[in-house]
Amino acid sequence: MAEFDEQIYQQGVQNDQENSLEKSLRPQKFAEYIGQEAVKNELQVYIKAARSREEALDHVLLYGPPGLGKTTLAMVIANEMEVGLKTTSGPAIEKTGDLLALLNELQPGDILFIDEIHRLPTTVEEMLYSAMEDYFVDIVIGQGPTAHPVHFPLPPFTLIGATTRAGMLSAPLRDRFGIVEHMSYYNVAELEEIVKRTADIFHSSIASSGAHEIGRRSRGTPRIANRLLKRVRDFALVAGKEAIDVEIVNHALQILNVDQMGLDQTDIKLLTTMITQYNGGPVGIGALAANIGEEIETLESMYEPYLLQIGFVQRTPRGRVATVKAYDHLGYIMPTES
Ligand SMILES: Nc1ncnc2c1ncn2[C@@H]1O[C@H](COP(=O)(O)OP(=O)(O)OP(=O)(O)O)[C@@H](O)[C@H]1O
Ligand SMILES: [Mg+2]
Repeated sequence: MAEFDEQIYQQGVQNDQENSLEKSLRPQKFAEYIGQEAVKNELQVYIKAARSREEALDHVLLYGPPGLGKTTLAMVIANEMEVGLKTTSGPAIEKTGDLLALLNELQPGDILFIDEIHRLPTTVEEMLYSAMEDYFVDIVIGQGPTAHPVHFPLPPFTLIGATTRAGMLSAPLRDRFGIVEHMSYYNVAELEEIVKRTADIFHSSIASSGAHEIGRRSRGTPRIANRLLKRVRDFALVAGKEAIDVEIVNHALQILNVDQMGLDQTDIKLLTTMITQYNGGPVGIGALAANIGEEIETLESMYEPYLLQIGFVQRTPRGRVATVKAYDHLGYIMPTES
């Protein structure tokens, strides 16, 4: 018999606790969902209308950088519609049969949530067209001479697609979403509120100054805010702090290599490479990715949008350029045009 390993067991217990905490961190209703006011207001109208007509909500496409609450929002929509939700992701649906199996389980009005919808195989995507537009799929059963088409009707349902890369969606797929919502970065006040809400769920006491500081350094992203809070909370505990204050936040974030703007080491590497090796640019994203050892996709979906947002990077037809703000922040002097 395998020896009982207390450490692995405790680790497992802790992971379970973290997973269920993770679940309880997700807001269930619009009332708890902080920020994204424009998106929420619009969706609330469509949901109310669909409910009073007793129809399925139109298909929804959510796009924006990772960690801004797309998955959470899909769950909130299902709760507000009071319908069932099935969750999957683009890469998980390999064949048309996989999609059919998912569609087959839907009750009228249910929601099918497909995360990373830009990564669906083409054949699967094509099957979605008729499913979304007219609630049916045509499939071919059997092979060779015995093959015959079967018309498969579906209940009215809502597809919610999420993507970090709206530009990578084909036009026919994009056009079939009646509701398209862009998720934007959260402001500091909203992130501060999210941090306070999460601390509350953790039963950790936090000073406003501490929550504000975490919010300010979370790259506009709730997932990062929650992650930083978890780590800061560890430092506070070990330091014997009653409450998480700005002092312990600063201490922890320094150790975590999160700088004053909330930039992490990859951000810094990216900017430093642009400045020191490409004279500030313009430089192509492919060259940058190769140089710092990251995937192009990661840079484009995770890092670049925030650096563009805070005005550290600009996109030009010839490539990316580091701005004077980036030079200043990193302590470099921008070469003057000669
Ligand atoms: N508006 C919000 N209010 C409170 N907490 C939020 C909000 N949005 C997101 N969160 C929290 O942030 C975390 C990340 O959210 P979520 O997983 O929904 O992001 P996502 O956009 O689906 O990310 P990805 O693109 O990586 O799949 C979750 O733990 C969630 O609890
Ligand atoms: Mg998600």
